[in-house]
Amino acid sequence: ESLLSASNHALTARKQVETATQRLEREFTISTSMLHNMVKAFIRDMERGLKRDNAVMKMIPSYVVRRPSGDEDGTYLALDLGGSNFRVCEVTLKGKGQVRTRQKKFVVSEELKTGTAVALFDFFADCVGQTMDEYHLDKNASLKMGFTFSFPVDQHALNKGTLFYWTKGFTASGVVGVDAVKLLQDAFKRKKLRINVTALVNDTVGTLISHAYVDTATYMGVILGTGTNAAYVERIESIPKWTGPKPESGEMVINMEWGAWGQDGIILPTTEYDAAVDRASPNPKKQSYEKMISGLYLGEITRYVLIDLISTGQLFAGRRCQALEAEHSFDTANMSRIERDHSMELTDTKSIFEDLYAVRQTTLSDRRLIKRVCELVGTRAARLAAIGVASVVTKTNKLAGCTVAVDGSVFEHYPHFANRMRDALRELLGINADGIVLAQARDGSGQGAALIAALADVGEEDI
Ligand code: GLC
Repeated sequence: ESLLSASNHALTARKQVETATQRLEREFTISTSMLHNMVKAFIRDMERGLKRDNAVMKMIPSYVVRRPSGDEDGTYLALDLGGSNFRVCEVTLKGKGQVRTRQKKFVVSEELKTGTAVALFDFFADCVGQTMDEYHLDKNASLKMGFTFSFPVDQHALNKGTLFYWTKGFTASGVVGVDAVKLLQDAFKRKKLRINVTALVNDTVGTLISHAYVDTATYMGVILGTGTNAAYVERIESIPKWTGPKPESGEMVINMEWGAWGQDGIILPTTEYDAAVDRASPNPKKQSYEKMISGLYLGEITRYVLIDLISTGQLFAGRRCQALEAEHSFDTANMSRIERDHSMELTDTKSIFEDLYAVRQTTLSDRRLIKRVCELVGTRAARLAAIGVASVVTKTNKLAGCTVAVDGSVFEHYPHFANRMRDALRELLGINADGIVLAQARDGSGQGAALIAALADVGEEDI
């Protein structure tokens, strides 16, 4: 009798796991028809942003009105503030699409991210001084610099723009509403550095422009990293809110700030786990699309799912795992490892949980369930990212083919991400998807800023 009840018990437990999996599959799966509906809504929201200033997707004119010819040359400095990293680059353009870059990487501490403008920008200036010393650059030469500032900036000129709001966990005071170039230029003055910041650039715009330097079919730059966003080339007639002079090229690069998509709460199929991530973030009800796609959040969504499965007894036999309970204690890089674990026994997944997270014992079905959760969260992210790409190429009539330059840790390191995006693009665009090349770009945002500074030298400063 006891044998029977033990096997009954096992059966119920297995059933429960199946139910958990099935429920999660239902909540996290984005069907082909959902993809189609979301593309329609996405294109409508792009058009709204191009028409007016206060739309959900900001669709910011970047003042970059030309793509490089490949002939640009000269030496420029570039600063690149992305998410967690800050880089100082010396970029030498040699013409013929050739570039040489030297760069130093610095980590922006949590304290600087959440401190004051002066502390943050003094840190940038110190890093620049240090790099110039190391590279033996002449501090009196008054070098030109492109500044990649990867946040939503209300651009007023190629080298002028005020921060709309912080994203990606930054909250430093005294920056919102202030010209980022002025903050930087003032810090340089305090540190006695004679540098002329001639371009203020979003990382997506930098990625687009630097890739266009080597591949002239590039019309779009996408970042899938700590945050997510895209820039693309739009015809000036299609930007009704643009009241400035009409550029000779007839084009303008638009920084979409697509991470904000869905924050009006209408379209995205969010789960209770997404809601938990959102509530605990420093910017609740903002950047909804970004919070379902980018590296700062994927691990966090997964963590909330795992905590929930533990609390219902469906994972680790309901035993608490304290190491998982702190916010941001489960990095997206763990999901990459788990999704890459193809061993029969899921041994790497076992070592993540038993060694790093001090779970006394995991069963194979625990590990299978965890892997399934990662697949669901990771696949949903890739399919959502494909919606943005499909919308832009559809709206701008690039279905015949174009190159999309993509950079960022999630695209580069998360297993299957690119393929899952391509699958979704095929579901959306059919055979046309084959002409859309998702090209891996690396470190383009700094180079791009230098190129834009170089383009500014050549002319069209009237804009
Ligand atoms: C965030 C920022 C955006 C940036 C993106 C990728 O969404 O708001 O400006 O491009 O992250 O770094």
